[in-house]
Amino acid sequence: MSRITELLATMTLEEKIGQLVMVSLGAETIVTGPRAAEEPTVEDVRSGRVGSVLNLVGRDRIHALQRVAVEESRLKIPLLFGLDVVHGYFTNAPVPLGETAAFRPDLWEKTARLAAEEACDDGIHLTFAPMLDCARDPRWGRIVEGPGEDPTVGRAFAAAKVRGFQGADPASPWSLAATAKHFAAYGACTAGRDYASVEISERTLHEVYLPAFEAAVKAGCLAIMPAFVDIAGRPMSGDHGFLTDLVRGRWGFEGIYVSDYDAVGELVAHGVAADMVEAAAIALKAGMDLDMESRAYPDGLKPALERGLISIDLIDETVARVLRVKERLGLFEAPFGRGDPARPAASTRAERRAVVREAAAASAVLLTNRGRVLPLAPEGGPIALIGPFVDDTAQMIGPWSGLGDQDEIVTLTAGFAAAFPGREVRVAEGCAADHAEDDAGAACDAMLIAEAEALATTCDVVVLALGEPSELSGEAASRARPGLTGRQAELAARILALGKPCVVVMTCGRPLIETELLKKADATLVVWYPGSEGGRAVADLVAGAVSPSGSLPVSWPLDVGQIPVFFGERPSGRPFVLGEHFTTQYLDVPNTPLFPFGHGLSYADFGLEAPRPSSPAFRAGEGVVVTTRVTNRGARAGATTVFLFSRDVVASTARPLLELKRFETIELAAGETRDLAFTLTAADFVLLGPDLEPRLEPGRFDLSVGFSADRASLKTVSVELLAEPAVA
Ligand code: BGC
Repeated sequence: MSRITELLATMTLEEKIGQLVMVSLGAETIVTGPRAAEEPTVEDVRSGRVGSVLNLVGRDRIHALQRVAVEESRLKIPLLFGLDVVHGYFTNAPVPLGETAAFRPDLWEKTARLAAEEACDDGIHLTFAPMLDCARDPRWGRIVEGPGEDPTVGRAFAAAKVRGFQGADPASPWSLAATAKHFAAYGACTAGRDYASVEISERTLHEVYLPAFEAAVKAGCLAIMPAFVDIAGRPMSGDHGFLTDLVRGRWGFEGIYVSDYDAVGELVAHGVAADMVEAAAIALKAGMDLDMESRAYPDGLKPALERGLISIDLIDETVARVLRVKERLGLFEAPFGRGDPARPAASTRAERRAVVREAAAASAVLLTNRGRVLPLAPEGGPIALIGPFVDDTAQMIGPWSGLGDQDEIVTLTAGFAAAFPGREVRVAEGCAADHAEDDAGAACDAMLIAEAEALATTCDVVVLALGEPSELSGEAASRARPGLTGRQAELAARILALGKPCVVVMTCGRPLIETELLKKADATLVVWYPGSEGGRAVADLVAGAVSPSGSLPVSWPLDVGQIPVFFGERPSGRPFVLGEHFTTQYLDVPNTPLFPFGHGLSYADFGLEAPRPSSPAFRAGEGVVVTTRVTNRGARAGATTVFLFSRDVVASTARPLLELKRFETIELAAGETRDLAFTLTAADFVLLGPDLEPRLEPGRFDLSVGFSADRASLKTVSVELLAEPAVA
């Protein structure tokens, strides 16, 4: 008999339900240590009423509680410890949206690996990451947590992160089980308002929102977290069609579903369950394995069984899945194996710092650089470094930063001092990052602005460090007007009015709609929340030690009224024609974003030749290779990302104007030329037919290469997908 069958045969109903319960030891516990032995959680663990824990950190505390489970509980089943290890544990890489801008799956994987090593060393088994929600609405604060607007990028990000967190063998002590979240279409919540209902077509769901999750499953992710939201009235936490039929049935998912925080109980608020008992039954029947914190499973499953809403077989099946994941993680053999000081992590601290520094530099996106004001010369008069983001450690690492050790964070002030040994850097706060609550705060801002102005007049160039405070980015941080907060816009206007060269360094978790500022500043470098080494990485870019190479993973709107604005829209029957009234357009703002998806400047100067197909016509089985020649015409080395898009010109269902098929980031020395070859196979030409089933439709495809999704600057070639010869 297998261990799991044996265990199931001996478990009481209460012990079975306990394996489906995940409790939070609360934020306060993170700081103060585990609850005392007499407190309920410890007793719950001892009696088998809790099988998994989240938010407890610290190896000693984790091991102390694990010891209760494996030594004092009747069945000695180890606990599973989970935490949101999103972009770092101690050492933070940039936030995921920022990291996506690097367009480097190798880096995405590396930063996940180092986060896994640090978390595993502390005793964590499971991370609630990667977040894979495609997001086309920067009003939604959680756009910061994921890979942006495009499903192809989402797929690559999913695979890289799962590989990075889990490594090759889930049972290795350095493997952190990954949770693909939030399944699915959370990013499409109505009007960007967090937790609001989702209303999208089945097609968009399948083409845009699901692919990243399917990629995570294919990569072997051990857990999935259903989203808080409902799609067209079907709350994800209780939907059998999605969780079981689609993901387990069609995709072959073998891991566990971990509910989002309280989400099982929220089925009542959604209006699909009358009480917690029904909520528990609906979720269990849908396929939800772990109830995170809602009390629906611990309080509701037994009465649900008594009411005949669920069967004991279903409970057994669910418990078996949870135990299987514990087994695959090697917890039965080595409940304390992770974080064993006798097994040093594969990487050193210095190596981890180097990786996050590289990631921060590769993630920054140079939006504008008028008159090539950047990079700043190493020698010269004083630099004014002004703004509320110059020296605030929390603002460097952003939301969901794990334990991000504040003492280890390099701020802009420190970074600039090191990067400009030949120039004086004069620093001023400029104003508070957030709105002043009272008159005293307003007076303080007025004084800070005046001081900053005075300081700027004494300097040759101003670097304005502006942005969005990290408390306004992430979960429950929707903003109808995502822009600069507090009196930062006023600070910027006053500094710009001085007429000095002015560079904006923008710290943010989403596109900030500040069109006037972005048009007036001489240069703008978006650094997101750049992480533990952010200050050094940003200063390296400003000083020119490194050339910017990041590209926008989301379209950057020009006006809030354009949202959602994204490159993958479908054609209109009346495409926009300038000056023609009855074509698709706004009367007051352009259709196009301020900066397209993929946009990002460099200190190098890249050119791209028209793509050349291996053959103008091909059969699906043969595929086609598209080659383009990239040249760095500039005087400096640099890296850039080349995108390959396709458009299926005529199809049974209208296809988007552009579909991203491939991207590749390459580094070229000054004057260097290189050919980039992209191989497209049959899968790249598959579309979902009117019945949403995949199929190939022969005909013309336009293949375009470019440095962004700006259609006017793409270079295009048409190829023909030939019909398969009829079988005789
Ligand atoms: C978030 C999840 C997160 C969970 C646990 C929830 O509020 O939506 O993304 O994993 O909390 O911290």
